Amino acid sequence: MKKKIRLGVNIDHVATLRNARNENFPDLNEVAHLLKKINVDLITVHLREDRRHILDKDVEDLKKNNFLPLNLEMAATNEMKNICLKIQPYACCIVPERREELTTEGGLDVKNQKNYLGDFIPEIVANGTKLSLFVDPELDQIHSAHELGVKVVEIHTGKYSRCYKKSNHTVELNRIKNAANYCMKLGIDCHAGHGLNYENVREISLISNIVELNVGHFLISQSLFSGLEKTVKNFMKIINDPSI
Ligand code: PXP
Repeated sequence: MKKKIRLGVNIDHVATLRNARNENFPDLNEVAHLLKKINVDLITVHLREDRRHILDKDVEDLKKNNFLPLNLEMAATNEMKNICLKIQPYACCIVPERREELTTEGGLDVKNQKNYLGDFIPEIVANGTKLSLFVDPELDQIHSAHELGVKVVEIHTGKYSRCYKKSNHTVELNRIKNAANYCMKLGIDCHAGHGLNYENVREISLISNIVELNVGHFLISQSLFSGLEKTVKNFMKIINDPSI
């Protein structure tokens, strides 16, 4: 039987909405509480260098209130590493970050940053946090992650999502399938995320060794129409039974 796919709900854009008015509404902890009630697996937040949505206090509160295991996405900077060591989230996903980008536009270049990441990672792992690297579906990047002793990668599905049902759809889907297979061969847990929605997530969910998805923008946006509870419940249903 196919393994249940875990869902991490990225709540960055709840914070975007809150910050628009500088109030404590919508309240991230209330959202986390609701997500726990409906059996979501993880809360995912990206603490960005410019603090454009999630703030340091949000990360502290979400960890303290402990509604769900916390997955902290962050750049590989010393500032972020210190925060991660202090907060000790359940999981940490290292992402590339450029200030001017709207969202995380590509995967990490693990191959060319091997020495730097090799120095950066061990303290986080030794501190009890499950560490993953956010990479494009490229075998050489996954290979480099493996050489660093990394046990989890998250495959960037952004390019696939953008070309869904367009001419290069199959090419991009196959890149993700190959990457996931390669992870299995190397004994690396394979996660995926970016740009996923009700439609394009079905094929991703059918890839048998993808065990976790992290999804944000679509879920928070769709909640405007259907409400958060219904939207997320529906998404969890789809990823665990893509034929519906
Ligand atoms: N995974 C990672 C590593 C990300 O950086 C993001 C975006 O913050 C996501 C998943 C979620 O992407 P989206 O908001 O497009 O669902």
